[in-house]
Amino acid sequence: MDPDFKMLVEQLDMKNKAALEGGGAERIQRQHESGKLTARERIEKLMDTGTFVEMDRFKTHRCTDFKMQDTHIAGDGVVTGHGLIHGRRVFVFAQDFTVFGGSLSLAHAEKICKIMKTAMKVGAPVIGLCDSGGARIQEGVMSLAGYGDIFLLNVMASGVIPQITAIMGPSAGGAVYSPALTDWIFMVDKTSYMFITGPEVVKATTREVVTKEDLGGAMAHNTKSGVAHFAAPDDQTCLEQIREMMSFLPQNNMEDPPRLDSDDDPTRRDEALREVVPLNPNLPYDIRKIIRSNMDHGYFFEIQEHWAANIVIGFGRMDGMPVGVIANQPSIMAGCLDIDASAKGARFVRFCDAFNIPLIVYEDVPGFLPGVHQEHGGIIKHGAKLIYAFCEATVPRITVITRKAYGGAYIVMNSRHIRGDVILAYPTSEIAVMGAEGAVNIISRDEISLSKDPQTTKQRLIEEYREKFSNPYKAAELGYIDEVIDPADTRPKIIQALKMLRTKRETNPPKKHGNIPL
Ligand code: HXC
Repeated sequence: MDPDFKMLVEQLDMKNKAALEGGGAERIQRQHESGKLTARERIEKLMDTGTFVEMDRFKTHRCTDFKMQDTHIAGDGVVTGHGLIHGRRVFVFAQDFTVFGGSLSLAHAEKICKIMKTAMKVGAPVIGLCDSGGARIQEGVMSLAGYGDIFLLNVMASGVIPQITAIMGPSAGGAVYSPALTDWIFMVDKTSYMFITGPEVVKATTREVVTKEDLGGAMAHNTKSGVAHFAAPDDQTCLEQIREMMSFLPQNNMEDPPRLDSDDDPTRRDEALREVVPLNPNLPYDIRKIIRSNMDHGYFFEIQEHWAANIVIGFGRMDGMPVGVIANQPSIMAGCLDIDASAKGARFVRFCDAFNIPLIVYEDVPGFLPGVHQEHGGIIKHGAKLIYAFCEATVPRITVITRKAYGGAYIVMNSRHIRGDVILAYPTSEIAVMGAEGAVNIISRDEISLSKDPQTTKQRLIEEYREKFSNPYKAAELGYIDEVIDPADTRPKIIQALKMLRTKRETNPPKKHGNIPL
């Protein structure tokens, strides 16, 4: 080899080696001691082995204040590039806490923006692994500008390519808004946190005393705020969860989600399903038993399981086709719709609609939750989100009414009236304005109080009402439901409907955008 060329290769090797060392052995050791993997280790575990291609490895900041001109570390605190997950292309950025605490300089932001723009051009998802002290303090407003650039691209990419964020360390201040603009947030328990202001500022302004963990840890955001969708015990599990999520998603809004070959019989019946829904409408049951039974191999990937558990959302496959499930959960608050459940459901419906994922809705809902707290909290506008989301959705939409379908909640939960495509009902279904007892109390109050034996009269009237409305047949007579089915046949019936709807095309009137009640 030409000695001059050899020197050039050696120089390249040296530069690569230095870049791969990030903030150096000592800081890497500290990262490991705090229970975290490094940015590069995370990417290795996220991607199919050996597929990661790095971009902008040598990019550095251009700051000359606070002696920053003397400190340049190749990559400037973020590793960016692309690779494969399950053989499909994804773009990734992983903030490197060992370099300036993963803080965001303008150059760091430019790297993130570059992969986001490329991902939008080629139609591939973006995954962000966040571990950052926020805005690079030495850069001031340049760093803030960088955040602005990222926010804008988050919004431009929304509904075009899937965007996923894992919070794997600090995420504080306005920096939390990029994750919040993406589709799904994963957090790692004990090592990650997200907040607008930390415990000290909270104490100074409101006198509340709270730990970092309680304020913005993984469980706080998975159980209380609903900001996050997944909590993992460690980095490795978090990255595995993201890989799992990706298996259900298309690359972009122009593609269908990836269909896998399934060896689970699409005509498989399950007679055990006849025993799941209690005949007594006041008894609870776990809707997930029905969901799982219908999925290929009983596998259901639940999302946001710790928040607003009165509604269940998640992905699964039926005859190999990815489907999104949204279901009332009768074992929590009788499955009623409250503020949180409405928001959780609405966002999920919109995600599935944006990315061509058919919706399967399981309905057993006594109505919207009554109460001063709910009314003053805005259940009217939040409930309207769910109606809005279903009304505008054009993906295949199938409903299975298992028991109660009362009042406005009947309409909201993907009814025929708001463009549900196929509506199936179990023989245990009750499609009515409200439960029989409540109805009789209102419409027959005088008849009951004036009768000789109010108790017997009331019972008789309840029975009469039940016979008339607390069944699926009145709605079936009107064509509001398509078929009353034996619960044992749920899986084959849903799969039949999915196949029929595969070529569904429906459009909404052209507009700039609607005005969803926020
Ligand atoms: C520059 C930073 C930094 C930052 C951390 N570092 N945050 N450098 N800008 N924002 C550097 C530290 O100087 C240190 O460098 C290294 O990263 C590790 O930080 P430590 O403090 O030693 O680590 P730790 O004790 O684990 O604490 C982590 C931390 C703390 C909680 C994140 O560093 C911290 O509070 N940083 C500031 C957070 C903050 O206020 N950011 C601005 C938020 S507002 P050395 O060289 O010693 O290793 C914001 C606005 C966004 O982000 C607006 C968007 C619109």
